[in-house]
Amino acid sequence: MKILVSGGAGFIGSQVAQAYVEAGHQVTVLDDLSSGKRENLMEGVPFYELDITSPQAAELVADEGFEVINHHAAQISVPASVDDPLFDAQGNVIGLLNLLDAGRKAGSKRFIFSSSGGAVYGELPGSPVDESFTPRPMSPYAVSKRAGELYLDYYAAHYGMDNVVLRYANVYGLRQIPHAEAGVVAIFMDCLVKGAPPTIYRSEDMPGGMKRDYTFVGDIVAANLAALDKGRGVYNIGTGVATDTLSLWQAVQAAAGKSLEHDFGPVRAGDIEYSALDCAKAAVELDWRPQHDLAAGLAKTWTWRIGE
Ligand SMILES: NC(=O)c1ccc[n+]([C@@H]2O[C@H](COP(=O)([O-])OP(=O)(O)OC[C@H]3O[C@@H](n4cnc5c(N)ncnc54)[C@H](O)[C@@H]3O)[C@@H](O)[C@H]2O)c1
Repeated sequence: MKILVSGGAGFIGSQVAQAYVEAGHQVTVLDDLSSGKRENLMEGVPFYELDITSPQAAELVADEGFEVINHHAAQISVPASVDDPLFDAQGNVIGLLNLLDAGRKAGSKRFIFSSSGGAVYGELPGSPVDESFTPRPMSPYAVSKRAGELYLDYYAAHYGMDNVVLRYANVYGLRQIPHAEAGVVAIFMDCLVKGAPPTIYRSEDMPGGMKRDYTFVGDIVAANLAALDKGRGVYNIGTGVATDTLSLWQAVQAAAGKSLEHDFGPVRAGDIEYSALDCAKAAVELDWRPQHDLAAGLAKTWTWRIGE
């Protein structure tokens, strides 16, 4: 298949692009390198350094006539979306629509969109939710992801596209950068390498900190492979297991075979307490199930982190 991967120089998108190439597909990557890295690009794979909001990006889609557009390019920071909601919407809504509409006009059959289960559902009742749970976005980032989902739904209904929304849980693994507010696994591993104690944010109600559904990037890539020719609509992609921050820190230390002290700090405003996804629909319709539990995924990530 002829496929465009937007955000294909980033943490997840670059590994999706690589898996598509290895599966024999004809892949093109589009990325503005705002957070993606040149070193994540594959030799021999056409690369366009373009902003997804630009007319040139739409022209590329019009000229190439991709069968599938896999959309990973996005502004991914929740705090940045709070500080500058217009910038967030520019990329995450207008950028998506720019590629989606150009794809529709050029005859693209399928648009695969990386949404965020952690963000769009908002605060959860304390057990994993399935896709029937009503989204309650609690940040401009979550609103923009939800808007993208609704555009995909509209284009599927009105133009017959087989669009797929993958609502990821919290993704970790190879190539993740220790950003300030995302990527806690990458941050913890960085702390271990540097011998710098991490801070665990917690409250009286949540003495071990926030609970999240940590999902290994290899499983996320597998979902993107499955979505090439299976499924239509929205799918949760996670493990269904909620792990609190303190337990995660202990699991990271176990994977690394190292130990280090840690500090505690108060929870940050706006942090969701609990998030985990029920992924039974993806198992049935995409024939996808996560293959890595936390220990297995952390072991692979640590091996990559220390360059073995
Ligand atoms: N990492 C997670 O836990 C997680 C969870 C849910 C959803 N997602 C979604 O998965 C996707 C990939 O996230 P990631 O963690 O790999 O982040 P990332 O920052 O590594 O990847 C995003 C990529 O998009 C590119 N990009 C950003 N804005 C662009 C623009 N305007 N034009 C062209 N390229 C642009 C960046 O340079 C980068 O390469 C994002 O859509 C994100 O919202 C990630």
